[in-house]
Amino acid sequence: MRRQVLEILSQRGTLIEPDAADLLCMQPNPLKVIDGFLSVSKKGLPMVLTRKNMEEILSFGSTVQEIPNINVITKDTAERERNYAVTIKKDITGMSTCIGDIADFMKLFQDRYRSIKRMLLRRRELQGSVSIAKAKKLEREIKIIGMVSSARTTKNGHRIISLEDEDDSITVLVLKGSPAFNDVVVNDEVIGIIGNTAKRGEMIVAKEVVRPDIPINGGLRRSDSDSWAVFVGDIHVGSNTFLENQWRSFLEWLKTAEEAQDVKYLVMPGDLVDGIGIYPDQEDELLIDDVYRQYEVLAEQLKDVRDDILILASPGNHDAVRLAEPQPALPKSISCNFDSNIRMVGNPAMVEIEGRQVLIYHGRSIDDWVGAAPGFSYERPLEIMKEMLRRRHLAPIYGEKTAIAPEQKDYLVIDEVPDIFVTGHVHAAGLGDYRGVIMINASTWQDQTLFQKMHNHTPDPCKAFMIQLGSGKAKMVKFT
Ligand SMILES: [Fe+2]
Repeated sequence: MRRQVLEILSQRGTLIEPDAADLLCMQPNPLKVIDGFLSVSKKGLPMVLTRKNMEEILSFGSTVQEIPNINVITKDTAERERNYAVTIKKDITGMSTCIGDIADFMKLFQDRYRSIKRMLLRRRELQGSVSIAKAKKLEREIKIIGMVSSARTTKNGHRIISLEDEDDSITVLVLKGSPAFNDVVVNDEVIGIIGNTAKRGEMIVAKEVVRPDIPINGGLRRSDSDSWAVFVGDIHVGSNTFLENQWRSFLEWLKTAEEAQDVKYLVMPGDLVDGIGIYPDQEDELLIDDVYRQYEVLAEQLKDVRDDILILASPGNHDAVRLAEPQPALPKSISCNFDSNIRMVGNPAMVEIEGRQVLIYHGRSIDDWVGAAPGFSYERPLEIMKEMLRRRHLAPIYGEKTAIAPEQKDYLVIDEVPDIFVTGHVHAAGLGDYRGVIMINASTWQDQTLFQKMHNHTPDPCKAFMIQLGSGKAKMVKFT
């Protein structure tokens, strides 16, 4: 009702102050109050309606009484309700402690190792695991847990893995043709190995590679929430290939479409704007070459989003925060341009929305996964997201394209199994499920850039994915 009243007043060229709107919306029929006043007033409505004006207007109609203590949703109460439904559970924003020295990196990898080891120890197959040092002395089947320091293929096609724990390291041989060989092993992931020692304890011949993975019996338990969350990523405002018309159609749909009526959350997993200096000669492809102006334009467009929709926006590699992950939320100097219904979060961020755990990650590490094994592709990001879930880590491969900040805690470990896992970055689009986790790669609102053309990368733009939080029901809406 409040929105309707504001719109009608705005159509009549009148703005209303918030406390005047509160008072007006408390009336049983606010529109009748305005019409009643206009029918008797010679002056019409003032340009800005103040609380005092409103009290005067109310005094015109003797039948209109202020009703105290009714449940009025003002901007403040709506904000409080939103606070109740959304909890930021894991986010680096405001928590960064790293200096960047070797000791910090040691702590980061130690935390990764210990966190994922704890998960692996819950696996039945790894009951009875021993340290690498102890395994070297045993001449029987052993189970160990370690971090991969390197993995390579020998001339004969076997795989050699160097594995280390906190005290020792060992070589693991995975024979070509063995069941363990089929699974790709990437650098810096933490795995369990079941095998036999050989060469007097200098090597282990692997029978099985064990991943922490997520439970099989996952999936959303139905809740009574009717709310929908919409996921749209990689907007790239400022680029000369930003698909503005389609983006505006999406915003219009969100405002007016019947199927968008129950949308209460809009999740944007990074690359909100195109940024500047992100890749060579990017300036030739920018429509707006000032990053602050790019955010101002986006903020202006998002003012069109209904007040009752909470926007959760995290940064990507094109946004104006540190590139190294985990990235903090966009700073105040940028977020101040946006309306109060947007909440900036870090990348990654684990957010609970109406009881659902939503893992938001931009997806920079997908570049490294694609480089790590021929089976991975930019066109099929869901397969890579599945591998992240299996390894319980968003970006295990260190030292390639994904810059990692050495925080004392590894924020890229997936310590809690999400209900919904969303990424972007690759400008593909996809919706899938792995063991009950809904996975979304959230499309883009940017057409193919020259840079992408050079790299033979074709985007799949202008798709909005929506999930009903109560049932897990999913839809995709395409804008042309
Ligand atoms: Fe992007």
